[in-house]
Amino acid sequence: PPTDPIGCPTAQAVAGATSLQELQLAIQGCLACPLGPGRLKFVFGEGDPLARLMFVGEGPGRDEDLQGRPFVGKAGELLDKMIGAIGLKREDVYIGNIVKCRPPDNRTPTPEEARACLGYLHRQIELIRPTVIVTLGATPLRELVGVSEGITRVRGQWKRVVVGNREIPVMPTFHPAYVLRQYTQDVRRAVWEDLKAAKEWVDKAQEG
Ligand code: URA
Repeated sequence: PPTDPIGCPTAQAVAGATSLQELQLAIQGCLACPLGPGRLKFVFGEGDPLARLMFVGEGPGRDEDLQGRPFVGKAGELLDKMIGAIGLKREDVYIGNIVKCRPPDNRTPTPEEARACLGYLHRQIELIRPTVIVTLGATPLRELVGVSEGITRVRGQWKRVVVGNREIPVMPTFHPAYVLRQYTQDVRRAVWEDLKAAKEWVDKAQEG
């Protein structure tokens, strides 16, 4: 795939990708930000390419960096359970991240790193055309949706994001790693209610 002199895929290569596979091929060698040289594996995202429901997390952790797949560690186990609680399987949805390479020590990606990767996520969303996006934690809400309020305040409140001329409803909820740290009934119920609302929207859109 065409790249510029420092190894970044060209904007045309990204925009011109007509399938997720083509997009992955175009961007998996990316060196557009400082995270690229430090990765073991590029974590593109995975799931049903026609998913109605898309989850967006923050970025790969250690397990994801080793395996090249999103949400396969402890947080991923919980995410699978959360998806199961609304009657779906992991294969029924699409799971992606704000950044596709692991930040060192699992720190939050910087705004520059997020920005360097955002065009890839946008193209991914354009190709998948999900009915609803669920953001997991504060980082995807801030970097994809532009909402910087505290996640505890805004979770459960519908937001929207415009990607490629399409407006997509966004349901912000807690990150599963946060749920693991705050394993209270209140937090678990909140996430369940958020995902239930997202699933209801998807089902309603399916009927209409
Ligand atoms: N946390 C994330 O935000 N994304 C992953 O893929 C794994 C853990």
